[in-house]
Amino acid sequence: MSDYLNLIAGQWQPSVTGRTFENRNPADEGDLVGTFPQSSADDVAAAVAAAKAAQPAWAAMPAPKRGDVIFKAANLLEARADAIAREMTREEGKTLPEARGEVGRTVNILRYYGGEGARLFGRVIPSERDRVFMHTLRSPLGVVGAITPWNFPIAIPAWKSCPALISGNAVVLKPSELAPLCATRLAEILVEAGLPAGVLNVVHGSGEAGGAIVAHEHVRAISFTGSEATGGKVAEACGRRKVRVQLEMGGKNPTIVLADADLDEAASIVLNAAFGSTGQRCTATSRAIVERSVVEAFSEKLVAKARAMKVGPGLDAGIDVGPSINAAHADRVVTEVAAAASAGATVLAGGTRLTEGVLGKGHFVAPTVLGNVTPQMTIAQEEVFGPVAAVMPADDFEHALALANDVRFGLSATICTRSLSHALQFAQRIEAGLVMVNLPSAGVEYQVAFGGSKASSLGPREQGPEAIDFYTTLKTVYMKY
Ligand code: UN1
Repeated sequence: MSDYLNLIAGQWQPSVTGRTFENRNPADEGDLVGTFPQSSADDVAAAVAAAKAAQPAWAAMPAPKRGDVIFKAANLLEARADAIAREMTREEGKTLPEARGEVGRTVNILRYYGGEGARLFGRVIPSERDRVFMHTLRSPLGVVGAITPWNFPIAIPAWKSCPALISGNAVVLKPSELAPLCATRLAEILVEAGLPAGVLNVVHGSGEAGGAIVAHEHVRAISFTGSEATGGKVAEACGRRKVRVQLEMGGKNPTIVLADADLDEAASIVLNAAFGSTGQRCTATSRAIVERSVVEAFSEKLVAKARAMKVGPGLDAGIDVGPSINAAHADRVVTEVAAAASAGATVLAGGTRLTEGVLGKGHFVAPTVLGNVTPQMTIAQEEVFGPVAAVMPADDFEHALALANDVRFGLSATICTRSLSHALQFAQRIEAGLVMVNLPSAGVEYQVAFGGSKASSLGPREQGPEAIDFYTTLKTVYMKY
């Protein structure tokens, strides 16, 4: 039996297949975090059946009482924050301060959606007819599926599950097989807080389990965060079954730096957004689009800051950048940088794997800054999901905006400027769901809508009050009195 188990109908159990997979620390391949069930469609079917059986009673509970369970879970998570942050660093690689930040964010997500139990508002709408009372009310969908990525191993499972649960749905969650432990901890906490058996089910595994959730006839909605390729397949399958789908996928997020910006601050903003979480965020800045008159001064500052970053195991003190998630991913990052260099980009910092001493045990890539990147290069168009910032010169604001929009993605975008006029024009004309002014493109808050445009996202927004729209169906009630 594996070290960790699936949660189905309130019981922790292995996969019916008996298969397991290993999870290893990306900073140290020799460190086995644990073994997990490699689940099949049969495990998913059992989880969906449990969810379907448990959902009506959960939906019948007054929503503020459902909120009490989630509030209690928030307190339990807060009490265990340090232990879970350490486990997150071991399984995902991000630095301990980053992991602590994510656990703290998750406590806030739980408290926020616990509170939404008292705010599942409908509306009263005036009728054009005499003595007709019209109102809208929200109903849960039933059983919903959540498929989550490895890069935010507790926050994303929480920000998909909690709005679903508070709305009265039952959930089948499949966390990424590359970082499955934190989602398990979240489920343990929700169970301990009093979530009834079957209301949240966790099925570990890979695409086989995820595909079975998406295909199951009793799953009424899928919320997915992950790659564009898989997202496309999820949306096709949901379209065929005519069930709701919410996708969060890639980004090629720009930070525009205008000549009037505080260049030191702009370099720090790009540094934070490009190299924080080792660049493994869909909201990471991967393009710095800089007015030509300051591109050299800006690049010098960014390169100096990038070179000063300390790369190493995230559990060590004073580390700025942890490892890539696995060897294949780290190799791909440096391959893409090499391809950019062959296409004419200049490697101003980094560009290589780091293997000296203790770094040889893991999958480390040096924070990388590329200069002279042009829009036709693959590095300017495709997501790298690693610690790589591409600097692209622009003639002026209009040119910078055109370059920023010249990609198929549209998740997050930043402008660094002192000009209110340019900031507001940017907010109106940038093709992105998240617009930042003098702030990093990554690092979002839980109480506002999150999502993108173009190929980055599909369906209603996550997080904030809008998340409830995805997990509820609206009924319009007409009453003659
Ligand atoms: C953030 O930038 O704080 O997978 C969150 C991702 C996003 C979350 C980013 N869905 O990277």
